Amino acid sequence: MSALKGQTVVVVGGSSGIGLGVAAAVLDKGAHAVVVGRSIDKLRAAGQRLGGGPCVRSLAVDMADEAGVARMFDEIGPFDHLVSTAGTPPPADPIGRIDIEAVHGFLASKLGGAVVLAKHAGRTLRPGGSMIFTSGINKDRPPVPGGAVVSAIAGSFSYFARALALELAPTRVNIVSPGWIDTPMWDEMVGAAKTGFHAEMAARLPAGRLATPADLARAYLYLMENDFATGETIHSDGGQRLI
Ligand SMILES: NC(=O)c1ccc[n+]([C@@H]2O[C@H](COP(=O)([O-])OP(=O)(O)OC[C@H]3O[C@@H](n4cnc5c(N)ncnc54)[C@H](OP(=O)(O)O)[C@@H]3O)[C@@H](O)[C@H]2O)c1
Repeated sequence: MSALKGQTVVVVGGSSGIGLGVAAAVLDKGAHAVVVGRSIDKLRAAGQRLGGGPCVRSLAVDMADEAGVARMFDEIGPFDHLVSTAGTPPPADPIGRIDIEAVHGFLASKLGGAVVLAKHAGRTLRPGGSMIFTSGINKDRPPVPGGAVVSAIAGSFSYFARALALELAPTRVNIVSPGWIDTPMWDEMVGAAKTGFHAEMAARLPAGRLATPADLARAYLYLMENDFATGETIHSDGGQRLI
């Protein structure tokens, strides 16, 4: 029987893409999922895809809004694992043309939001619980040009987890680093051009295909279920770091 059976997993970013895959996977293991995102429409659609039912709960919260996040954890009460896959497309212009306001906004949301979550989750996270944040392949294989900001942020997550794993012990803190996955984020970033990008990448990957949210979910499940894993970054990229 899975250690997750009967536990409660909060999935920030669970209304789409990788997070939706994680929410489905923890429900399959007999856990309760609290799905968090900003858009009520996305939350509603995700709730339907997850089959509704008493084990799924949805909350509309922006992870960068500290007061909202504090209220959210009060409302959820005791829980067992925090997963954050939340993120938006990064600013991707070459450094000489980058929009600094957009950079500050991205930093405040992706990294600042993770700090807000870590600050407030600890009050109600049950003993034996864990936090998992999401980085990405860009730190290992930066897209050129225009990948500097997202590479720096993605790289920072491993160090964030290593430091927090010591500071918050025995709570475990880990990172999943995905390769490319066909999620709605790609539609937002490149629209119809994604089909060509994805086919080209799939042909180059040692795995021979892009990941699915279900592939990624296995990495998050491992980190939740393995109570010896902490301060770790798990790569799930089909060999994308190697090419
Ligand atoms: N897809 C890839 O190929 C890939 C590769 C490497 C790394 N990653 C990283 O993995 C993460 C997830 O990507 P994805 O492809 O699953 O994206 P996605 O399908 O666009 O899902 C992102 C999720 O995050 C939520 N979200 C965004 N900002 C939020 C905020 N401030 N507060 C709360 N929720 C927020 C979104 O809902 P709302 O918009 O309603 O808030 C949505 O549920 C991202 O950080 C991305 O950079 C993705």
